[in-house]
Amino acid sequence: MCGIVGYTGRLEAAPLLLDGLRRLEYRGYDSAGVAVLDAGRIEMVKASGSVANLAEKTANGAALTGKCGIAHTRWATHGAPTDTNAHPHLSEHGLFAVVHNGIIENFAALKGELEAEGIVFRSETDTEVVAHLLEKYYDGDLKSAVMRTAARLEGSYVLGVLCAKEPGRLFCVKEAGPLILGVGVGENYFASDVTALVSRTKNVIYMSDGELAELTPEKITVYDRTGRETAKEVSHVVWDVEAAEKGGYEHFMMKEIMEQPRAVKNTVEPRIRGGEIVFEDFGLTAEEIRRFSRVVITACGSAYHAGVVAKYVIESLCRVSVETALASELRYSDPIIDGRTLLIVVSQSGETADTIAAMRECMARGARSLAIVNVVGSTIARLADNVIYTHAGPEIAVATTKGYTTQLAALYLFAVWYADKLGAIDAARRAELIAALYALPSMVQRAIDLNVHVKYLAERWHGHKSLFFIGRNIDYAAAMEGSLKLKEISYIHSEAYAAGELKHGTIALIDEKRLVVALCCQEQLYDKMVSNIQEVKARGAKVLGVALEGNRRIFAEADDVLYVPRGERLFAALPEIVPLQLFAYYIARENGCSIDKPRNLAKSVTVE
Ligand code: AGP
Repeated sequence: MCGIVGYTGRLEAAPLLLDGLRRLEYRGYDSAGVAVLDAGRIEMVKASGSVANLAEKTANGAALTGKCGIAHTRWATHGAPTDTNAHPHLSEHGLFAVVHNGIIENFAALKGELEAEGIVFRSETDTEVVAHLLEKYYDGDLKSAVMRTAARLEGSYVLGVLCAKEPGRLFCVKEAGPLILGVGVGENYFASDVTALVSRTKNVIYMSDGELAELTPEKITVYDRTGRETAKEVSHVVWDVEAAEKGGYEHFMMKEIMEQPRAVKNTVEPRIRGGEIVFEDFGLTAEEIRRFSRVVITACGSAYHAGVVAKYVIESLCRVSVETALASELRYSDPIIDGRTLLIVVSQSGETADTIAAMRECMARGARSLAIVNVVGSTIARLADNVIYTHAGPEIAVATTKGYTTQLAALYLFAVWYADKLGAIDAARRAELIAALYALPSMVQRAIDLNVHVKYLAERWHGHKSLFFIGRNIDYAAAMEGSLKLKEISYIHSEAYAAGELKHGTIALIDEKRLVVALCCQEQLYDKMVSNIQEVKARGAKVLGVALEGNRRIFAEADDVLYVPRGERLFAALPEIVPLQLFAYYIARENGCSIDKPRNLAKSVTVE
């Protein structure tokens, strides 16, 4: 979704701002713009389409002079992705330029009020009201104008503000949505994502809702909602800029698939000590965990799919009832939640608007929350009572891979820890499960090693226009993620179905034009899957079987087979997804799709 960058310092601002925007491109956007302040005048350039278009229009930033500025990548919500609707937006007399992430829900009322005062709007955006309000309230006191403007806004907004009369001074405000300040030497930054900052500084400040910050080249001052100065901790980003670059791969997605053994290892190994699972970054005690009567897992997209896997695993190991709920549904469902509910919130970005809303709703009803999050300091991480960080490193491709597999790894760790604390598993089973957790990185590596065969199969099957992924139990949960991977990057219609449910209606769609990917890694249900494979084959479909290494019987059923390394049954979804990620990747590549930035999608969905 939209991205924001701001800079004030001693260097020319525009090239730095463009560099920041390029690093935010992965989040998804459809236009871009930059504004800099020079000798009391704001100069602004905007372009629909890519940041490359903006770079071309500004000679890579060289056409704009000024050492303080703001920039934006826009993902259209109000008004088409045109040059005019792109951010920044200027106030009536050009005194203010504003960039904005989020949605101003009361913009229509504010626009009516401003139009009645004679202001003529240039764009169709909700954001333009902010620029006009700033100019209306500015009487020489910039902080007060920003606060008075923010007080009029309803909805979600992260704002960057540049004022023609305030050289070297920037303001930014956060009310839902990520905002991070970059602390430099003789220069300071703000951005909606750490990736925009790490090439310049690794010292950052995470802003909280309701806070505003004033930046000059020498100083950053953060204020709370009432305008009182508030002390903030400076955190150090641990990963290098190379982690957010392609490193020789054609696409970030492939790089991130290849990084999975390391990411899973980083997530699992530091938490296993002396044969026990230890969560240092975690405040739930054994007594507290025993008081929960049920678990609710909430998330969106792939993170939700990780939650569906976790339901099977936690219920099997802990014998505690688990409900997995889509956050966009849970938030409006009047959920039955109380103090005996453990709420597990899963999110790579930690900024997904629906997930945050569902979390707030459940916490307001008394649930204790545990977040499984990748991005340190993100909104979900800060809202949660307890956090388990996945150590995936920055994930740039819109289609998640290592984000998802590290979520699974963290959920498996938690499930074993929980079962142990409940006394639901004995010491021998605990040792077996811990050994299985240790084995996960090498299993992922072995799955990756089958890359060449997956590529061959993708080349063979890429022409199909409609696919079904079927499976039972944990294989069904893995089918959901395999299907989503394929459709989001290749734009091929694909559905995930519980294999036994197919015959209750959907089998009407099965004919000789369909390819059915049959996940058969839950061997206790293998014979049932064979029946389902035969049902679809009888109707002419082609079948790609996904089975555990050593399963020879599958050749009698499927047209082709993808093998998955054999290990602990409950953890099978993790190695199993790897060939499906690769399959989706190679099909999308065969079909010439935009793999890292698929159409219509954004990396983190920060609006409802
Ligand atoms: C998966 O490939 C998608 N990009 C999407 O479904 C994603 O998992 C979902 O939007 C949730 O994001 P989050 O993990 O950052 O909350």
